[in-house]
Amino acid sequence: MSSTTSTSADQLTFRGSSLQLKNLCMAYGDVPVLRNVSLEIAPGTTTCIIGPSGSGKSTLLRGINRLHEPSSGDVLLDGEDALRVRPDVLRRRIGMVFQHFNLFPDHTALENVALALWKVKGMSKSEATERARRRLTEVGLGERADHRPRDLSGGQQQRVAIARALAMEPEVMLFDEATSALDPELVKGVLTLMAGLCERGMTMAVVTHEMGFARRVADQVVFMDEGEVVEAGRPEDLFDNPRSARLQRFLSEVL
Ligand SMILES: Nc1ncnc2c1ncn2[C@@H]1O[C@H](COP(=O)(O)OP(=O)(O)OP(=O)(O)O)[C@@H](O)[C@H]1O
Ligand SMILES: [Mg+2]
Repeated sequence: MSSTTSTSADQLTFRGSSLQLKNLCMAYGDVPVLRNVSLEIAPGTTTCIIGPSGSGKSTLLRGINRLHEPSSGDVLLDGEDALRVRPDVLRRRIGMVFQHFNLFPDHTALENVALALWKVKGMSKSEATERARRRLTEVGLGERADHRPRDLSGGQQQRVAIARALAMEPEVMLFDEATSALDPELVKGVLTLMAGLCERGMTMAVVTHEMGFARRVADQVVFMDEGEVVEAGRPEDLFDNPRSARLQRFLSEVL
């Protein structure tokens, strides 16, 4: 299904898909890392995933788009068994943005966004370039389309990475600490961009240490520890009324 519709303001609105995890288990070799993670993310909503280092947050996102295969359990994308979709096809439907932007250093911002469109999506070069330019304009980088990554700030590079993921018209976006590598003054711009995607209807799973963002933007917050979901619910419930001792301890350390 196509996940986007155009609007008059040349800004896309999205038709995000639902994402469901059922008893997801993951391991590295013989070492279990995720245990029976179950989650429901409604279409067009944002789930923020928080938890201590090593709790399995990145592993969870990697399982959802099959950068690492789950050992058991189910992932349903728009109700469809995502573990049976070819991984390369799945990754067109589920975009991912990492802490380190993973841009091609020898290509301009525009080429970084356009490349996958003609290589993976099979668009003509002119069509891909046209769409890439629109996506860059949307993330505020229309003027910087011809710059290479080294001539862009960290925040601008991350916005190129987001434009690149959006250009594929995904149904879900995963963010893994997308702002942790940025200088503090650049964090806000990227978080504002992410909050805007949420308002425009994208389905998002966001691993973050930005508790203010999670409280403000998330429809659901998930607290993970030692490979398990310990608590999940509305941000005000988790932040103001944590039930488990583990979440209470975590919040007292990070807030
Ligand atoms: N490629 C790997 N091979 C083996 N073990 C790994 C691998 N990647 C992660 N792990 C282990 O899996 C566990 C979960 O790691 P993961 O990266 O998912 O945690 P995280 O919650 O994202 O942590 P952080 O907040 O530090 O990014 C950790 O114990 C980690 O050491
Ligand atoms: Mg991580």
